[in-house]
Amino acid sequence: MVSVLFVCLGNICRSPTAEGVFRDLVEREGLGGHIRIDSAGTHAYHIGEPPDGRAQAEAKRRGIDISGLRGRQARAQDFAEFDYVLAMDRSNHQNLLNICPADRRERLSMFLNFAPAVGCTEVPDPYYEGGFDSVYDMIEQAAHGLLADIRAKHL
Ligand code: 4NP
Repeated sequence: MVSVLFVCLGNICRSPTAEGVFRDLVEREGLGGHIRIDSAGTHAYHIGEPPDGRAQAEAKRRGIDISGLRGRQARAQDFAEFDYVLAMDRSNHQNLLNICPADRRERLSMFLNFAPAVGCTEVPDPYYEGGFDSVYDMIEQAAHGLLADIRAKHL
């Protein structure tokens, strides 16, 4: 079993979208039994909450349902449990480095490393600025790149 954790700030916009998009892709590829997928936020603001209504609406428009997901906070133990810990932006990456055991740092990377064609390194925070449609597009591209990486290295 390969395991993937998507991480943003609040775990209500970007990372639950990534969780839903990647799970949908993995299931369509018939790999649901091989890849464990979860998401978390670096902060505690939205623990137990469903995804932001705008993220849910964008996902629904694209054909996936993320309404059942609930926010949780990332913790050091996640670096023992997940092979891939994927940060949406630099700030998330730094916050994760702060809780990452020294011998687990290779598990942490930027999600958009898996989508070089997107042309940027961070998924912008849409909470205040909006842009849920372009955020979704970036996440979809990186999800494909991530699955290709997992296939090449683990499956
Ligand atoms: P996310 O977006 O990190 O993509 O879930 C945010 C959600 C909540 C807040 C900021 C960003 N907030 O400040 O509450």
